[in-house]
Amino acid sequence: MKTKTTPTIPEEFKITETINQDTWLVNGVLEKWEGKTSEVYSSISSTEDGKPTLLGTIPYLGEPEANRALLAAADAFGKGKGLWPTMKVADRVLCMERFVKQMEKQRDAVVKLLMWEIGKTLNDSRKEFDRTVEYIYDTIEEYKQLDRDSAKFTKHDGIHAHIRRGPLGIVLCLGPYNYPLNETFALLIPALIMGNTAIFKPAKHGVLLMTPLLEAFRSSFPKGVVNIVYGRGREVAAPIMQSGRIDVLALIGNSRSAVALQDHHPYKNRLRLVLGLEAKNPAVILPDADMDLTINECISGTLSFNGQRCTALKVLYVHEEVADTFNKRFAERVDALKFGNPWEEGVMLTPLPEPGKPEYIKELIDDALAKGAKIINKKGGKMMGNYIYPAVLYPVTKDMRVYEEEQFGPVIPIMPFDDIEQPAADVADSSYGQQVSLFGENVHNLAPLIDTLVNLVCRVNLNSSCQRGPDVYPFTGRKDSAAGTLSVHDALRSFSIRTFVASKDNDYNNRILNDLLDSKASNFISTDYIL
Ligand code: G3H
Repeated sequence: MKTKTTPTIPEEFKITETINQDTWLVNGVLEKWEGKTSEVYSSISSTEDGKPTLLGTIPYLGEPEANRALLAAADAFGKGKGLWPTMKVADRVLCMERFVKQMEKQRDAVVKLLMWEIGKTLNDSRKEFDRTVEYIYDTIEEYKQLDRDSAKFTKHDGIHAHIRRGPLGIVLCLGPYNYPLNETFALLIPALIMGNTAIFKPAKHGVLLMTPLLEAFRSSFPKGVVNIVYGRGREVAAPIMQSGRIDVLALIGNSRSAVALQDHHPYKNRLRLVLGLEAKNPAVILPDADMDLTINECISGTLSFNGQRCTALKVLYVHEEVADTFNKRFAERVDALKFGNPWEEGVMLTPLPEPGKPEYIKELIDDALAKGAKIINKKGGKMMGNYIYPAVLYPVTKDMRVYEEEQFGPVIPIMPFDDIEQPAADVADSSYGQQVSLFGENVHNLAPLIDTLVNLVCRVNLNSSCQRGPDVYPFTGRKDSAAGTLSVHDALRSFSIRTFVASKDNDYNNRILNDLLDSKASNFISTDYIL
């Protein structure tokens, strides 16, 4: 692959050859694909002409391959009899450890692809990788703890019970482009460790970065436990859902895709949902807020990874008393942010991975301008390559599209308010309910707001921007923002169900139970545990 590389790309990050991903993982085999492929481009240019960079190709699979992946996952679950769902906890842990150890060796390759495929800065790409590895180790520890807690019998009303958490069955796992590694693995890893089998389709952008990990998936788990498919959702995920054999839909993305996929499932009552969806998290800036701190938090809250985070601050409510000060200082700070390629020192704003995204953001800006808002920063709205410099819009009103739509990109709407009740009332009326950020210090103003907001969203961040982490904390949302809860602890519960063996307390049954324990014939009825 010949490209005229610009001298600004450090040697270690140059694309010297394309990755032609010509296998897919099915039933424990990395099967060669000789059919149609799709090209994967980066919106970052490696030539002086500014054109997108070809990174490689991926298989373009269709319904027959989707059905084979489904069959492999179903066989691996084996109607509850499969090796994986019946495996001893210690053995499942070994498989997961084998996987994560191999994964760690691929850090540089994955980080480089994170930068090229989705434009994430070098620092943030490294963080995404390291955070994911840590998440896997924490999940293993949490799983051992869960096992320790269930390695016992209880007795009530003359009935002995041995209660554990068991797998749900087959999981269809779909991750998002903004965290193609972390968010996807935050679904897949707990789903697997609990004994489920999975079909996993990488995100549209951030797909080649799975290539360095395919061998680790293949060699760490029994055949059919993880199956990795490529292609378009409607051609691959839809038939899998239509089969009615999926027990859990695990998706981080938007509610439209989640609803469309659920609609394909013929038996909705059998389908468990673990969803992380869109949000429109507001910051509420009260008159006594510490301005330096608030501006810092609002900059990272609105513009980390160009605002392409479900947890990003997507609308700022600023009290009229401080609006002038806040707007002026905030707008200057936005204009001082550095735009560049992900590996550049000090860069915060980077090319957007989705073609057409700058045009969409421009539409939101034009709509707001037509309805009375102004761009209050000098660089706001300037287009360059696949980027649009963040526009700070003020004053934004509820009839504007940027108030209603989740922009998921670099545009910042600011709404003035004078009645402290107003922002909370808007959160109550919104379709979303993930998090809010509250800036201020007078406890008599903060307390009633906190007490209301905790009933409307699932995390109130005091004097700090919204975020998912630390991953041990519950990550969820109300209304169109989520279904189920994710965290190291909660995800193990989201991907499992309580299931138990019960027997009446009498000599006959007790002798059998003791025999089961002594013989170690059952992996379920066992009071052994790993320290
Ligand atoms: O896109 C949504 C992510 O879960 C956000 O995670 O707050 O750690 O960036 P983060």
